[in-house]
Amino acid sequence: MSKFLENQNWRYATKKFDSSKKVTAADLDFLKEAVRLSASSYGLQLYKVIVIESDEIKAKLLSAAFGQTQITDASHLFIFAAQTNVGATEVQSYIKNISETRGIPAEALNGFSDLMNGAIKGMSDEAQTVWTAKQTYLALGNLLNAAAELNIDTTPMEGFNAAQFNEILGLDKLNLNATVIAPVGYRHTEDDTQHYTKVRKSHEDLFITI
Ligand SMILES: Cc1cc2nc3c(=O)[nH]c(=O)nc-3n(C[C@H](O)[C@H](O)[C@H](O)COP(=O)(O)O)c2cc1C
Repeated sequence: MSKFLENQNWRYATKKFDSSKKVTAADLDFLKEAVRLSASSYGLQLYKVIVIESDEIKAKLLSAAFGQTQITDASHLFIFAAQTNVGATEVQSYIKNISETRGIPAEALNGFSDLMNGAIKGMSDEAQTVWTAKQTYLALGNLLNAAAELNIDTTPMEGFNAAQFNEILGLDKLNLNATVIAPVGYRHTEDDTQHYTKVRKSHEDLFITI
């Protein structure tokens, strides 16, 4: 079996982490790089990722995550937060990045810039919120896969109160909205979930080949 599929079978949404085990700085860099390299719509990366290692802050977030103890027991907590103030400034800064990274004059990118600005302007606030949130889930997927490659455990989590997270972490002031989170660390030997057989739809049920 390929290593990738082996990893997919190895990983599971961890319910109980071993709080004595910490992810090393080198492994954390690998995970962050995997998140950084994630694909995003147009390449705009309209989100920030907050990495919490402070036990004090994790404890503050526990009740806002309905007491799910992965928050406090995991080594680190990744919080994906979509930008709420998307507009011409974000497009401009991305165009500057492309121009500098690839050595292309910014004017040569005017068409691309107009395309992005037009698409963003054409969205309602609600559509924009959904669109930016979607991008964070791609980054979340990369985090889960990269972590599994290093035998690091994760739990993708939507079970938290975003408004409370935003307030506790001051995300509102940064025009950010927490969309999805992932504690990262090492499974506890007492977490029975690790022994459960994976439940997935069959190929026949999942795929439609036309
Ligand atoms: C978007 C999303 C949100 C989830 N939220 C939670 C959560 O709040 N708490 C939790 O324990 N598991 C959560 N899960 C884990 C799922 O229940 C789990 O991924 C699913 O049952 C498949 O099992 P597996 O990941 O162990 O293979 C979430 C998963 C996803 C993808």
